[in-house]
Amino acid sequence: MNRSILTTQKTWLMLLTLIFSTGVCFLQAQERLMQITDKYLNIPVSNSAQRQVMTIASGQDKRVFEIRLATGEPDYWVFSDMTEFMGRDITISYPGNEKGLSLIYQAKTIAGQDSLYNEPNRPRFHFSSRRGWNNDPNGLVYHEGEYHLFYQHNPYEREWGNMHWGHAVSKDLIHWKELPVALYPDQHGTMFSGSAVIDYHNTAGFNKGNQPAMVAIYTADNPERQVQCIAYSLDKGRTWKKHEHNPVIDSKEKWDSKDTRDPKVFWYEPGKKWVMVLNERDGNSIYNSTNLKDWTYESHVTGFWECPELFELPVDGNQNDKRWVMYGASGTYMIGKFDGKKFTPESGKHYYTTGSAYAGQTFTNIPSSDGRRIQICWGRIPSHHMPFNMLMLLPTELTLRNTKDGVRLFSFPVEEVNLLNKAGYSWQNLSADSANQHLQEFNDEPLLRIKFTLKLSHATSAGLNLNGQSLLNYDMNHNLVNGVFYSPNEMTSMQISADIFIDTTSVEVFIDGGAYSCSFEKRGTDPNQGFHFWGNNIHVDSLEVFVLKSIWE
Ligand code: FRU
Repeated sequence: MNRSILTTQKTWLMLLTLIFSTGVCFLQAQERLMQITDKYLNIPVSNSAQRQVMTIASGQDKRVFEIRLATGEPDYWVFSDMTEFMGRDITISYPGNEKGLSLIYQAKTIAGQDSLYNEPNRPRFHFSSRRGWNNDPNGLVYHEGEYHLFYQHNPYEREWGNMHWGHAVSKDLIHWKELPVALYPDQHGTMFSGSAVIDYHNTAGFNKGNQPAMVAIYTADNPERQVQCIAYSLDKGRTWKKHEHNPVIDSKEKWDSKDTRDPKVFWYEPGKKWVMVLNERDGNSIYNSTNLKDWTYESHVTGFWECPELFELPVDGNQNDKRWVMYGASGTYMIGKFDGKKFTPESGKHYYTTGSAYAGQTFTNIPSSDGRRIQICWGRIPSHHMPFNMLMLLPTELTLRNTKDGVRLFSFPVEEVNLLNKAGYSWQNLSADSANQHLQEFNDEPLLRIKFTLKLSHATSAGLNLNGQSLLNYDMNHNLVNGVFYSPNEMTSMQISADIFIDTTSVEVFIDGGAYSCSFEKRGTDPNQGFHFWGNNIHVDSLEVFVLKSIWE
């Protein structure tokens, strides 16, 4: 037997052993053979079935994952894209569930295609995956007219697990088209978070002719360790080849910890090299490389957990006054200096958003003529009882601005969100009662953007409710916006402005042009209450309402 076959067998055996060792019980596997003639394999899932390992195999090619294969009436269906196996014989094996195996079927469409993107709890203008679970955005990169959104994805259940890199593209950051899975689990583990770059200078040697490679730098996770790996694509992220000498970083021993993950890589022009910021145990490390394959450890800043970011921004647009921002998955950030090897914090930690946002990542390779620092965060907002779960928050532009407290990060939806507008209305100088009358007209509209400036007459509380749920609660006495400390830039101001996006399952609130934002699940339960401004003799200086459209129409 040649060495590569032996290695493949050994590594898959390792993966299977690892999966089994995670507590999945082992029954005699049953098998089903079929020839692949259609694009999708539809697989029934039942919430109450136990997770067991399913293997779809054809020769050396295998997909190995855990799934709750339905034993009777399925709760929902998931799918596996079979393009790679077209025309070939496959064997599906799964322990102890002949009935479930027999329900699996091939089709040209996914089960539920007729109602796709029209399901009751489907976010209408936030990205969510067709089926399964999503968490962190990964590999955000702009390339040849497309924004790429890769993401942490479990194709086989509406809960976390089996991490793959899902993939969607957009031409305008608003309308997304989901493409097949980009990265599948392999002998190194499941595909955890990471980033993507375009290797214009062919530093890694993956380019073909004039076609620069898109290179993904990601964490592979297995029960033993987390290692950093790379893969590349020469067809705009559609198909991927893993680097044959993965992993490129294995730092478990250095940190005496398994937690080394989520590499974010960018090109550092002053040093003509790649910089990686990697979360390791208790903070963010900096690594350098000239070829994306060999990495040198340079420095470490403690106080961050998961999904690190590091980028430079001008203050108030002044290109002669730039600062570096470092953050972790929660978004709390430090501002400081960076010399290519070491980040030196100067202020922090600060926050700009709270609530559902997590693991936000910013795009690489945005053309310099655009120059924006665009971020997408995972919104930890469920779609209850659906065959899909979780969403991505609206893309925002991050800017640094001088405030009374020093330089701070602002986050505000990109201007492309105006593409969502179907109809717009605006009013000025309203009493709360008349503002409420105008808003009542929109009580039954599910997709809305509401912008307003409130003027308080007492330094107490004021806000806006929808169906009994508070969307905005400004407590001027304690300086809280929705329970979080907020002090407006003009500290004696009696005004607050809010820009609120309401989707099927979520609410995003941006305060005073993005000085602070929060996002949460839409939960109002009493439709009789509709919209309602409240507060002691408040005044609505301006009110704008936009009826929004679905991005899936
Ligand atoms: C953050 C995170 C990352 C990890 C990924 C796994 O949400 O825990 O640190 O790479 O999710 O899905």
